[in-house]
Amino acid sequence: MTNVGILGMGSYAPEKVFTNFDFEKILDTSDEWIREMTGIEERRFAEDMDTSDMALIAAERAIEDSGISKDDIDFVVVATSTGEHKFPTVANTIQDKLGLKNVPSVDQLAACSGFIYGLASAEMFVKSGRYKNILVVGVDKLTKITDFEDRSTAVLFGDGAGAAVVGEVDEGFGIKSFELGSKGSGGKYLYGDKEKGYIRMNGREVFKFAVRQMGESSVNVTEAAGLSTEDIDMLIPHQANIRIMNAARERMGLPYDKMSVTVDKYGNTSAASIPLSLDYEIKNNRIKAGDNIVLVGFGGGLTWGAVCLTW
Ligand code: ACO
Repeated sequence: MTNVGILGMGSYAPEKVFTNFDFEKILDTSDEWIREMTGIEERRFAEDMDTSDMALIAAERAIEDSGISKDDIDFVVVATSTGEHKFPTVANTIQDKLGLKNVPSVDQLAACSGFIYGLASAEMFVKSGRYKNILVVGVDKLTKITDFEDRSTAVLFGDGAGAAVVGEVDEGFGIKSFELGSKGSGGKYLYGDKEKGYIRMNGREVFKFAVRQMGESSVNVTEAAGLSTEDIDMLIPHQANIRIMNAARERMGLPYDKMSVTVDKYGNTSAASIPLSLDYEIKNNRIKAGDNIVLVGFGGGLTWGAVCLTW
């Protein structure tokens, strides 16, 4: 049986920092409200960089980190809701810019759950024996679809990218289980409007759904991996709101220091949030070989997904 895992990680957070105090200048809001209700202190804005520019940098970093030659990448999956065009996709654009010769490339849209969908797809592609090394990118430039006059959504979002190279790993390591799901009937609670594509949200409904689903899916993948929650060394939840993240952590019975928290620095970066956090923890030496990790996300659709893996 082929064991499939992450061979290398990379990420990119734009330089421009936009703080809660900056929002106080343009909206009827406060640092205190944003911090207490969401855990966000600041976020990054990509400004004149577009989605594929961020994706490219994260992808280059992941390929370098993996130690494999880029010529050995044979499939590209990009999770995003904010590509420059419907087509060519972000995946098509970076396939060209990375110089990957004629390999298949596709964007997958599952909103904030997109990276988990990408990782699960990559695992199945490699396990099938048809492809060997898959580049999976989660990237979003949410500032393109943020209504900066709507205080109930504008303060939540940021821009960023994260990427993984997925391929065969040694026995005992890699992806042990995953769960994907969707509930289209909840789509009305979180969507892009028809006029400008701006994010519209019923915060209360999304909050309730997320608290329930993140906890449930985290426990499900842990058990499906043959582990118990005490065996989990790090929970990497979608960074939407610290209160939602803490609810999932508590459902798992994990202490605060076993959860990745980057929502304070980057806000909600949608498909980028999980790989950005995973890369952050790796580069800060908070994850070591053999650690059991749960990645879990939820998003528009409504969609959700979780992965349990051994690093
Ligand atoms: N500053 C100050 N006050 C605000 C702000 C703000 N930025 N935004 C809303 N308020 C006010 C509201 O107007 C309301 O005032 P009122 O009581 O006078 O009417 C009050 O705060 C409470 O508003 P609610 O929306 O009811 O507050 P809630 O407790 O639901 O918290 C929040 C809002 C933080 C958005 C929460 O609902 C949440 O986190 N929901 C989930 C959001 C999420 O994770 N979305 C994922 C998006 S993923 C994607 O697709 C990119």
